Amino acid sequence: MNLKGKHLIDPNDFSLEELDQVFELADRMVDNRNAYGHVCEGRILGTLFYEPSTRTRLSFESAMLRLGGKVLGFADANTSSAAKGESIADTVRVLDAYADIIVMRHPKEGAPKLASEYSRIPVINGGDGGHQHPTQTLTDLLTIRRLKGRLEKLTVALCGDLKFGRTVHSLVSTLARYNSNRFVFISPSELRFPEHLKEALKEKHDIEVYETESLEEVINDVDILYMTRIQRERFFNEADYMRLKDSYILTRSKLADAKPDMLVMHPLPRVNEISYDVDQDKRAAYFKQAELGIYVRMALMALQLGVDVNVEGK
Ligand code: CP
Repeated sequence: MNLKGKHLIDPNDFSLEELDQVFELADRMVDNRNAYGHVCEGRILGTLFYEPSTRTRLSFESAMLRLGGKVLGFADANTSSAAKGESIADTVRVLDAYADIIVMRHPKEGAPKLASEYSRIPVINGGDGGHQHPTQTLTDLLTIRRLKGRLEKLTVALCGDLKFGRTVHSLVSTLARYNSNRFVFISPSELRFPEHLKEALKEKHDIEVYETESLEEVINDVDILYMTRIQRERFFNEADYMRLKDSYILTRSKLADAKPDMLVMHPLPRVNEISYDVDQDKRAAYFKQAELGIYVRMALMALQLGVDVNVEGK
């Protein structure tokens, strides 16, 4: 079990034991962040963001800086030679000489996978189109592990844009690998969880899901409510987005009879799907989730780079 040099394109690239290794190191980093401030000295993270991001890009940058490393990259493809027509393959080949590890976000599904095929250094998928967002899943699982104490025997409701929401696709396919988790999908009919992913849940894990259009029907029976925004940038038609954008708005009153230890999660950014009055509810976990994203990315990169993380007691 050694993550050194490994790419992370899909959360299923890592075994459950490897995921545990990341979470255990992240837990140690939460408890003693300053002890790791030198472990990536001399290492450079390359951030290739062809699509907007706040949390993913900045938490990766913060994570590498907190490990003592450095960061270079671009936040807008228009300021890179992609605007002149350079291919991903050529960009990545060049980055090999400039950095030690790469995180890439791209609007096209499969772009980070393609990059990994041309790269001699680890490539991390920072989100590819409506496909996958593996480090958001690591963040989500670390949050659930820490706040619920387990990754098994959970009833997880996912609400909103389940068609285009890459965070949902990655999270469900990963949580399905742990024992006895159940899924409830809440979406408008046009934005249902993709059929082929549902079939994979059945074939690989013998999991049947419950689907509904009503948040109110199920909210009182779940352990985790994972809200998502309607993904405007993936719609072909603005009129459809306008019609669907406020399909679900979680308010504090809707939480009145939900389980007292339920977690309300959201990968952020939120638009309108969680009202601000929920932020004060003790079940609101989304800002804690964003904070934990730094530690899980610190742990991930340290392990992929194979640096010495045995710092305790030194
Ligand atoms: N959760 C997430 O991916 O946020 P950003 O789009 O801001 O990176």
